[in-house]
Amino acid sequence: MSSKNWNRRDLLITLGSAALGIGVVHPVIGETSSNPELFDNPKFKKPERPVTCIVLGAGGRGNVYASYAAKFPEEMKIVGVAEPIPFRRERFSEKYNIPAEHQWVTWEHALQVPKFADAVIITMPDNLHYPSAMEALPQGYDLLLEKAIAQSWQECKDILDLTNKYNKIVAICHVLRYTPYFRKMKEVVESGRLGDVVSVQHLEPVEHIHMSHSFVRGNWRNSEESTPMILSKSCHDTDILRWVIGKSCKKVSSFGSLKHFREEDAPPGSTARCTDGCAFERDCIFSAIKLYKEKKGWLHHLAIENHDDASVLKALQEGPYGKCVYRTDNDVVDHQIVNMEFEDEITVAFSMEAFSHYPGRRTRIFGTKGDLVGDESQMLITDFLTGKQENWKPGKAREGSGHGGGDHGLVHDFIQAVSQQDPGLLTSTIEASMESHLMGFKAEESRLKGGKVLETNINS
Ligand SMILES: NC(=O)c1ccc[n+]([C@@H]2O[C@H](COP(=O)([O-])OP(=O)(O)OC[C@H]3O[C@@H](n4cnc5c(N)ncnc54)[C@H](O)[C@@H]3O)[C@@H](O)[C@H]2O)c1
Repeated sequence: MSSKNWNRRDLLITLGSAALGIGVVHPVIGETSSNPELFDNPKFKKPERPVTCIVLGAGGRGNVYASYAAKFPEEMKIVGVAEPIPFRRERFSEKYNIPAEHQWVTWEHALQVPKFADAVIITMPDNLHYPSAMEALPQGYDLLLEKAIAQSWQECKDILDLTNKYNKIVAICHVLRYTPYFRKMKEVVESGRLGDVVSVQHLEPVEHIHMSHSFVRGNWRNSEESTPMILSKSCHDTDILRWVIGKSCKKVSSFGSLKHFREEDAPPGSTARCTDGCAFERDCIFSAIKLYKEKKGWLHHLAIENHDDASVLKALQEGPYGKCVYRTDNDVVDHQIVNMEFEDEITVAFSMEAFSHYPGRRTRIFGTKGDLVGDESQMLITDFLTGKQENWKPGKAREGSGHGGGDHGLVHDFIQAVSQQDPGLLTSTIEASMESHLMGFKAEESRLKGGKVLETNINS
C-alpha cells in the first residue's frame, strides 16, 4: 500500500463529492490495486480433454463465449452452431472449424440430431431461452444459459425442475459475479470490515445512447418480446445485490415508467424514420444517421455484413434501428426504482436510469463499522474507528474478456464444472440465480400495481 501516487482529485471526480462526505473528511492512506484471482480455486483442474459445446445463436454473446475456445483450445471446443443469419453462421463456422453437418439455421435443427457434445450455449434472444433449454436438458446437455433465464417466473421454475430432474449443470450468465471488482466487493462485505450491513444504494446508469439502441429501437424494447427492463438489464443488479449482501430479499416495492421515448415527445417536423427527411434530425440526440452511419457506432445488432455508408443507410431505411425513437413499439421503462427489504432489516434502494452520459454501476454500502463507495472502476472503503481509507482499483482485465474480465471468468468456471461434473465449481448456477430473477419479476409486478409491497418468497 502506498499513498505516493494517490490523486485525491481523481477520486472526487469519479466518485462524486458524496464519496468524501460533506462533513468529516478522513485521510486517505492507501491506494491498492489487485485482481482477486479468478482462477484460483484449488479444486480447478486442467480438463483431460476439451469440453465440447454447441452454440445456439452466434451473435454478440455467442461469439464472446466461444472466443474462450479460441484462446484455450485445450479446455473448450466448439463443435456445432445454429444461427439464422448466413454471414454470421459462415464466419463462426469457419473460425471454429465446424463441419457442414453441424451447422444449422435454427436451434430446433441442432437439437433434432442425437446428442453429440457435452454442453449447449444458449445465446439467442430472450424468448428462445425457454424452449431451447427445455429441449436440451432431457437430451442430457449441460447448459450455459444467457440471462434473463426465461420470460416468466413459472418458466424459470420449469427449467430449474428439469435441471434437477436430469441432474444437469446450468450456468446463468451473470457475468458480473466473475469480475474482480464485484468479487472484491463481496470479499469486503464477507470480511466484516464494514460491520453489519445496514443499507445499500445502487444505481445502474444505462447511458442514454445505449438506452436508445437496445431498449427503444433494439431487441429489448418490448417486454412481451423479451422481458421487462428490470430483468433484461437489471437482473445483473438484483443478482449482484443478493450475492454481495449474502442474504435473501424479503419484500420489494417499485415505481417507474416510460417517461420519454413516446410519440407525444416527438419533436415537430420529425418523421417515422430518421431517413424520411426528418426536419429535426440534425438537432436530435438520438439521430440514427449520426449514430450508425456517421459515427459507425453500435453496428453489430444491425446484422449487416458490410458497414459502408450505403449498407448502413439501407438498414436504417428498412430495419428497426432507423426508426424515430419516439415512434417505435417500445414499452420498457426508461427509469425505475426498486426498494427492497432484505433479511436482518437491511434496506436496499436501487435505481435504473436511462438518462446518464456515463455507464458504470455506482454502489454505496453502509455498515455499522465502515462504508464502501464504488463505481466499477474503483472502490473507497472507510473504517469508522481508525479513519483509515483504502482506495482499491481492479487490476487489468484479462485480454479479450469483456465485462471487466467477467465473460471469460464465467466460461472458465463453466468448463471446470462440466469437465468435473461438479456444479459447486460455479458461482452462478441456475439455483443461485433464481432469487434475483424472482426479485425482478416481483418488482415489475409491484410497478404495475402502483408500487404495492410484494413478498419475494422463493417457495411461492
Ligand atoms: N450476460 C450479459 O451481460 C448479456 C449482455 C448482452 C446480452 N445478453 C443476453 O444474451 C442473449 C443474446 O444477446 P446478444 O446481444 O448476443 O444478441 P444478438 O442479436 O447479437 O445474438 C443473438 C443471435 O441469436 C440468433 N438467433 C435468432 N433466432 C435464432 C434461432 N431460432 N436459432 C438460432 N439462433 C437464433 C440471432 O440471429 C443472433 O445472431 C440475450 O438473451 C441477451 O439478453 C446478456
